Amino acid sequence: MTKVAIACDHGGFEFKTMIMDTFKDGIDWIDLGTHGKDSVNYADYGRAMGRAITEGKAEKGILICGSGIGISIAANRFPAVRAALCTNVTMARLCRRHNDANVLALGGRIIGPAVAVECVNTFFNTEFEGGRHQARVDSLSACL
Ligand code: RB5
Repeated sequence: MTKVAIACDHGGFEFKTMIMDTFKDGIDWIDLGTHGKDSVNYADYGRAMGRAITEGKAEKGILICGSGIGISIAANRFPAVRAALCTNVTMARLCRRHNDANVLALGGRIIGPAVAVECVNTFFNTEFEGGRHQARVDSLSACL
């Protein structure tokens, strides 16, 4: 089964629960929290994702905060992470096909649950195109 890490702050807790439940078959979830609606710092959960991807504990990840912005910024500080904040299915498809994104970030207060599920489904089921995109993706870490 594919190992996928998932993390959220309080703004993404409801989506995390819903997404884990929707994709409970075929996905071996690594739940990095948060585990309730109490206010927490999104950066801690973005960093937890960064560590999980860097250490190879998960091959892909899902991040959710209120906007999806703060938690994706935190995760993208890790060179191994290519987190893409998506608000629609086209973005979820393109972040896989062109950017080989390994983490999908969503805004729990930005999009509705049906769009969130479609974005996750598309993210899981779209392959990286490679070709002309490979060198560009490789170069993302070149400045570090
Ligand atoms: C939390 O209130 C909110 O700031 C957070 O979920 C996120 O939107 C930050 O980028």
